[in-house]
Amino acid sequence: MTIPRVFVTRILPEKGMQLIHQVCEAEVWPDELPPPYEILLEKARGAACLVSLLTDRIDAGLMDAAGGTLKVISQMAVGYDNIDVVAATARGIPVGNTPGVLTEATADFAFTLLMAAARRVVEGERSVMAGAWKTWGPTLLMGYDVHGATLGLVGFGRIGQAMARRAGGLGMRILYHDLAADPGPAQQLGAQSRSLEGLLAESDFVSLHVPLTPETQYLIGERQLRKMKPSAILINTSRGPVVDPLALYDALRQRTIAAAALDVTDPEPIQLDDPLLSLENCLIVPHIASSNHATRTRMATMTADNLSAGLRGERLPNCVNPEVYR
Ligand code: GLV
Repeated sequence: MTIPRVFVTRILPEKGMQLIHQVCEAEVWPDELPPPYEILLEKARGAACLVSLLTDRIDAGLMDAAGGTLKVISQMAVGYDNIDVVAATARGIPVGNTPGVLTEATADFAFTLLMAAARRVVEGERSVMAGAWKTWGPTLLMGYDVHGATLGLVGFGRIGQAMARRAGGLGMRILYHDLAADPGPAQQLGAQSRSLEGLLAESDFVSLHVPLTPETQYLIGERQLRKMKPSAILINTSRGPVVDPLALYDALRQRTIAAAALDVTDPEPIQLDDPLLSLENCLIVPHIASSNHATRTRMATMTADNLSAGLRGERLPNCVNPEVYR
């Protein structure tokens, strides 16, 4: 029996790597940076599986470069906007992802950003490091209340609902905008539905939890930012291009909104000369919302499980295009 050849585009957490090595002959890209597209093309040739990350462009050309051997694409992420799923489906290739296991970690982190931006934690730390802390100041770094405030959740899927559970504990009023959401969980969590405009106008904190699709690209642009309160804070842990970065820069600079906290940017990584980096009221971290030891390990093992099932020709435990099985 020939052992299937698999290309893994980065070194995954150890438990996932062990599982992968048990079921195939894996070539693992050893660098910290993703393999360039040309290398991906070369490595895809004859591969039975690609194990990908959200930084890898997995398009029709790449699938065709595999030359008909590709049986599965297994991605270590819940989001898969980097993969041309329509092209994969047309070629009968199942695509796996890692939903569920990162819900709580991502919501924990979105709340961390919300609190940090509301109470100006990073600005405070920077001022201490710069030697600017002279005394206790009556108006020093005044922020905004979190308890009792209104939280607007754009997207009310798994992570949006996990945000609502946290917000309930802080006595927050919860609004959501999600036309596809089942009203059951919203009722249980005491969350009220709003139009996007209504949510933006009423919320003290707006947190984004939508996938990146053609419909959500630049969902938050100049017109939407103008609807928000001058004291409002925007939190983005979804995908960078859900927010128009130039419009966000203008809103933050002119203080038509108070602050933003971003785990994701457009592009990623953000360039060092990006104007957003010049703003004190914009907190930016490098796409780490799901990055804790337990969660990333579970994501890696789930990626390995999808890979093994795909190699055996079985249904992937988590498949984004189940229509390939029809
Ligand atoms: C991270 O952003 C993911 O999609 O898992």
